[in-house]
Amino acid sequence: MKGADTLICSDLNFNNEEPIYIQIENNIKEMIEKGRITSESKLPSSRELGKLLGVSRNSVISAYENLEANGYIYTLKGKGTFVAKRKSVSNRGFNVDWNSKRNNYGKTLEELDIIKTELVWKKGMISFKSIAPDETLFDTEEVKKGFLNRMSIEGNKLLNYGYAQGYKPLIELLLKYMKEKGAKIDNKDILITNGFTEGLDIVLATYTKPGDTIICENPTHNTAIKIMKSYGLKVIGVKMNSNGIDLEDLDLKLKENKVKMGYLIPSYHNPTGIVMDVEKRYKVYDIFKKYNVPIIEDGFNEELLYSSSHVLPLVALEGDGNSIIYIGSFSKILFPGIRLGFILGDKSLISTLESVKRGRTIHCSFLDQAIFYEYLNSGVFSKYIKKARKHYKEKYEFTLAKVKEYIPYEEVFGEGGLHLFIKLKDINARKVLDKSYEKGVVFTPGDIFYLDGSGRNTFRIGFSRLSDEEITEGIKLIGQSIEEVMEKESLD
Ligand SMILES: Cc1ncc(COP(=O)(O)O)c(C=O)c1O
Repeated sequence: MKGADTLICSDLNFNNEEPIYIQIENNIKEMIEKGRITSESKLPSSRELGKLLGVSRNSVISAYENLEANGYIYTLKGKGTFVAKRKSVSNRGFNVDWNSKRNNYGKTLEELDIIKTELVWKKGMISFKSIAPDETLFDTEEVKKGFLNRMSIEGNKLLNYGYAQGYKPLIELLLKYMKEKGAKIDNKDILITNGFTEGLDIVLATYTKPGDTIICENPTHNTAIKIMKSYGLKVIGVKMNSNGIDLEDLDLKLKENKVKMGYLIPSYHNPTGIVMDVEKRYKVYDIFKKYNVPIIEDGFNEELLYSSSHVLPLVALEGDGNSIIYIGSFSKILFPGIRLGFILGDKSLISTLESVKRGRTIHCSFLDQAIFYEYLNSGVFSKYIKKARKHYKEKYEFTLAKVKEYIPYEEVFGEGGLHLFIKLKDINARKVLDKSYEKGVVFTPGDIFYLDGSGRNTFRIGFSRLSDEEITEGIKLIGQSIEEVMEKESLD
C-alpha cells in the first residue's frame, strides 16, 4: 500500500474556489472514509506535507486541527499524527414507514397538495396558473433603503427576539390603515401573521374542533379548503351567481345547519374575481347576524380595487360589533415572499391568538416586519398602489378582450384583480387543459375550487405576470384546444 503522503499528494488538485486548508481537510477526510488511508497509519508532519503540496505549513496545521476536532485523526506528543479508529456508521440505522405514521392532518394536507398533483409549468411554457403580483413592478430600491434605514436605527433589536403580537409600529400603522377603510378599531386589535394563510390556520386551530361546520362560497380559495379539511371541519358551500353569493341559499343553509363560522372573500373573490357590491355586503352581514354566526373576512385583494369606488369591508359594516375576524394580506400587491399578513379582530380574540402564536412559532420575523413598516410608512406605497392598479387594470382589460376574441365561453367572471374565471358550455376543462399543455400552455382547472366535485367546465386564468404577447398566444392556443375537444366530443 502507498504511504499516506503519496496518497494525499496524488489526489489533490487545488481549485481556486475554496480555501487551501479546507481542500486538504476534505481530501484527507475522503481518503479515511473510503478506507484508502487505514486507521492508525501515520500522517506526514505538517511541515513535510506543506512542502510536498507546495502550500504553507499553516494551511496543513489548520486542516489537521479540524480533522482532529472531528475525530478523524489524533496526535501523540513527540510521535506524530495518526488516523483514528472510526466506528462504522453504515448499516446501523433502522427504517421507519413514515407514510403509515402520518396522522389525518398530515395525510389530508399531502393528499390535497395541488402542487404535487396538478400539471406543472415547464420551462418555455406560458403559465396562466399564477395569481402572484408582477415582481417587475416592485420598488426594490425603496425596499433596500428601508432595510438599511431600519438596520441603522434598531438593527440590534430587530435581530433579537421580538413580540408574539408583532412589531409595534407596524401594528399601529395597520390599525390606522383599517380605520381609514372604515373599521371601528376601539374594541379591536391586530396580530401579525405569516400571510393570510397563517391567519386562517391560527383562527381555525383556536376556535374550531373536528366536526364543526364552516360555511363559505362555492367555489372558494383552494388553500382555505385544504386548511379547513385538515382540521376535520365540515365545509358547506353556498351557491354563487353572476353577482356573487346567492343570498337565499346562504339563508337556507345557515337555517338548516349548526354553523360555527363563515369564511367569505368579498373582494376579487378567488377564483371568480367577483367583487361583492356594498348593498349585498349589508345583506350578507345581516343574514349572518340573524343566525349569530361570526365571519372570517378574507380581505386579500382589497388594495387592488380599481374598477369600482371604494367598497367597505364587512368589518366596517359591523361598527362596534366584534363578530368579524378580518384577515388582511398584501400578498397580491406587495412582496408575498416576505409572508406578512394580519388579523384584525376583537381585543380578547387577538389576546388569545397572541398566546397561540407564541406557542406555535413565537413571532413573525421582526426584520421583515420592520422593512415592511418602513416601506408602507415611507409614502412610496401610495404611489406604488396607483402604478400597480393602473398596470393590472390594463392587463385585465387586455386579457378580457382576448378571451372574448378567442374563447367560446358560456360566461366569463372577474371584475379586475389578477385573474379571470371562465365557464365553458358542457366542456370538460381538464380535457382542454391536457390539449393546451401539449401546446405549451398551462392554467388552473376550476374544479379544485369546488367543494362538491362540480365546476368541471370551469378554469382560472391568472394574467399578472405575463406579457401581452404571451397572453394573446396563450389564449389563442386555449381557444384552439377547446375547439379540438368540441370536435372530438361531437365525433365520439
Ligand atoms: C383568497 C385568497 N386569500 C388570501 C391569499 C393570500 O394568502 P397569503 O397572504 O398567505 O399569501 C390568496 C392568495 O392566492 C387568496 O387567493
